[in-house]
Amino acid sequence: MTPLVDLRSDTLTRPVPAMRTAMAEAEVGDDVYGEDPTVAALEARVADLLGHEAGLFMPSGSLANQIGMRLHVAPGEEVLADSLAHVLRAEMGAAAAFSGITSRSWVAPRGLLDPAQPLAMMQPDAGAYQVSTRLVVVENTHNFGGGTIQPLPAVRQLREATLEQGVALHLDGARLWNACVATGTAPAAYGALFDTVSVCLSKGLGAPVGSVLVGSAQAMAAARIWRKRYGGGMRQAGILAAGGLWALEHHLDRLALDHARARSVAQAVGKAAPGVVDPDRVETNIVILDVGAAGWSAAAFVAAAGERGLRMYATDARSVRMVWHLDVDDAATAYAADVVTTMICEEAPRP
Ligand SMILES: Cc1ncc(COP(=O)(O)O)c(C=O)c1O
Repeated sequence: MTPLVDLRSDTLTRPVPAMRTAMAEAEVGDDVYGEDPTVAALEARVADLLGHEAGLFMPSGSLANQIGMRLHVAPGEEVLADSLAHVLRAEMGAAAAFSGITSRSWVAPRGLLDPAQPLAMMQPDAGAYQVSTRLVVVENTHNFGGGTIQPLPAVRQLREATLEQGVALHLDGARLWNACVATGTAPAAYGALFDTVSVCLSKGLGAPVGSVLVGSAQAMAAARIWRKRYGGGMRQAGILAAGGLWALEHHLDRLALDHARARSVAQAVGKAAPGVVDPDRVETNIVILDVGAAGWSAAAFVAAAGERGLRMYATDARSVRMVWHLDVDDAATAYAADVVTTMICEEAPRP
């Protein structure tokens, strides 16, 4: 039987039995009334981990980012982010569609932050002719950049300069946990450098639903209103929050395993076809293959691998993303390495 190895995303995990039990047994209340104790516990736990005053449970990372941005930027004002940032590329234009926010971007190879780039673009007080910058968004780890970790000194430099000019900083920390586990950095060390941070529980941590936005108590009170306005107020959401709490307790440290597995495949493929991936660039649980360098189109590569039970995601015409998670073990990892190296080294490429 052909195995099925699904590396399209780390959002594909299914809750493990113990997590389901914790969810089923969660104490709940109506969270729109602020009466769900499990949601409150999760919000307090995440705020504490990130060193912020308060947290707000969100149904998705996208909503957490969008409300985070809306808190800092009024309609007609501007956010800056790199051109591969999830907030610009994969949130369906929500900042423009819902909040009237305009954006400009800079090109960041691998999504790696060079503070000089946003700093050169920033215009906090652009007067009556150009758009004023209110916010810079940083993504850590960087999804489309290939799981890239943003180094603390670079973020610190950006923070110092933006503070001086009165521009806010939001962290899209959907995979901040991966950055922290890979580098041994406490989440609060990153948290201290941002006005607001969004983190996801439904990616590598393996909870079925949920993100948390953190910031000041005042900002989270405003965010609560925006969440309700966007239709994101949930009732007995403690059932979901319990999955998040369980994930933080049990699935944080094991992210290191995902990183090691991702790197092992990058090493195998990189050894066989050095132009396709540089294993030294694989820092966390994401590997981006430049299958174009081997003459393949990303779409053909994904389709051909899919016929062998290996699912991946084409991020553009020549790049294919593989993401490790809870449901991919050593055997699945070895299978993935085998399929990819065989296709690249032994088969005729399909453009
Ligand atoms: C970096 C990043 N930010 C935000 C999100 C949005 O999360 P959600 O799918 O929960 O809306 C994702 C989802 O993949 C992501 O990769």
